[in-house]
Amino acid sequence: HLGRWLLLPLWGQLAGCRGIQSALAPSGTAAREIAALWWSMAVGAFIIYVIVLGIAFYAVRIRPERHGSPAGYGLILGGGVALPLVVLSTLLTYSFSLGPTLRQPVASGALQIEVIGKQWWWEIRYLPPGQKQPIVSANEVHIPIGEPVEILLKSADVIHSFWVPPLAGKIDMVPGRTNRLVLQADQPGTYRGQCAEYCGGPHALMAFYVIAETPKNFALWLEQEAQPVKDRGSPLLMRGQRLFINSGCGTCHTVRGTPAGGRFGPDLTHVGRRYSLAAGILPNNIGTLAGWVAGNQILKPGNKMPSFNTFEGEALRTLAAYLESLQ
Ligand code: CUA
Repeated sequence: HLGRWLLLPLWGQLAGCRGIQSALAPSGTAAREIAALWWSMAVGAFIIYVIVLGIAFYAVRIRPERHGSPAGYGLILGGGVALPLVVLSTLLTYSFSLGPTLRQPVASGALQIEVIGKQWWWEIRYLPPGQKQPIVSANEVHIPIGEPVEILLKSADVIHSFWVPPLAGKIDMVPGRTNRLVLQADQPGTYRGQCAEYCGGPHALMAFYVIAETPKNFALWLEQEAQPVKDRGSPLLMRGQRLFINSGCGTCHTVRGTPAGGRFGPDLTHVGRRYSLAAGILPNNIGTLAGWVAGNQILKPGNKMPSFNTFEGEALRTLAAYLESLQ
């Protein structure tokens, strides 16, 4: 009975322990160190908590007559000062010792990925060694497994924060600066990340996915991502592309290989094969594509794209089919 109440402070924290965005389900080198540190901190704090409560209980209920006696001061000094000092110093030393592990060096000449935080999405630029032009994408970071990948973090407007709890720690993206983080994933998987610094309106809806693949699959993916869109095969998709251009979508969005070359919103060249839509908040399919175009201000209020709610049903379906075909 008493134990249940003693555990109360832990319940809230343990509620967040599962799933693809958990720091306590680590899948990478840095994340594993951070999870180990978290558990040591939790156990250390719990030990202090139990001992201090035990001493308080003893002082109040069992030996109230000993208040002010030398033995009472012993309890205060031992349980209230010495014990927390020893436990907290040990934990502090341990946490500082992790620094070098978390700032892992990366082989020079390896792939770099630039992530630029924008209100309220992420521009992703792949910089393979020896290549001048970056390969531009959005809201999804692909990495090869089993090797450290350097992520260069920037911001185009306000402070954002890049955090993929299962893979690494969290680092702010500060305008005018380039911060650096190393991601390393052990096995192929899909990990969710979240902007972890309040950046205005739909900050809570600024998420992304990290997709870790075998080096072979990653190379294949990157090669396809670098391509412009191919010829739109069917009349439906041709109509969709015309609609996209004529409605002004290309003023803000780029679809490489077409006249759409806007730089304000996410690059949509391969939007159809992304895992999610709208910075990690919706599954990606023809229905959510149509819903996003027509009703994005309801789905993500305050985002910088207007709701194109004037499209007739058929036009909307055609446009969504075109976007889905951008594989
Ligand atoms: Cu970007 Cu919060």
